[in-house]
Amino acid sequence: MPTHEDRNRCHYVMAFIAETLRFRNVVPTGVAHKTLVNTKLDKYTIPENMSVMVYQGIICRNEKDWQNADEFTPERFIDSEGQYITTRPKAFIPFGVGRRVCAGEKLAIADLFLVLVRFLQSTQDYDIVLDSNDGIPLKLILISQTMPDV
Ligand code: HEM
Repeated sequence: MPTHEDRNRCHYVMAFIAETLRFRNVVPTGVAHKTLVNTKLDKYTIPENMSVMVYQGIICRNEKDWQNADEFTPERFIDSEGQYITTRPKAFIPFGVGRRVCAGEKLAIADLFLVLVRFLQSTQDYDIVLDSNDGIPLKLILISQTMPDV
């Protein structure tokens, strides 16, 4: 059974989770917030009581911050030593940003790790093939046998 401590050793699994959160944002438009006062943000003036949403799905996939942003590449979170890069790029904001950042981020990552590892362990004798009919290119098909050791 995987434990929380195993996260420090399972670099590719952690990178896979991070890339999944980047690539297919769970909350792409973030959660709506409201300005309490007239607010200046860069060159924009936002009046008070205005709804503001951070389009984090785009920020997590813009070409300026991410090389080949439209490709699913867990390796972008792995350094040259094969270690999971724990320092988050500034455009990695699947849990939002600022004071109202997701309160459950740590719990979510911990659970995703345990569930994913158990899933891989119990399906290692099978090929896992995703439906490619809705625009997802075939190269994204995940075949468990091709996964590096976790
Ligand atoms: C993959 C899983 C999750 C994702 C991607 C996610 C994402 C988010 C996002 C984008 C926000 C809005 C942040 C903002 O306003 O800038 C948020 C808020 C929040 N999330 Fe999550 N969340 C996840 C799991 C969880 C879990 C497991 C919990 C609790 C057990 C949780 C509790 C909260 C709470 C309480 C807030 C509101 C924080 C506040 O407004 O101060 N989330 N989450």
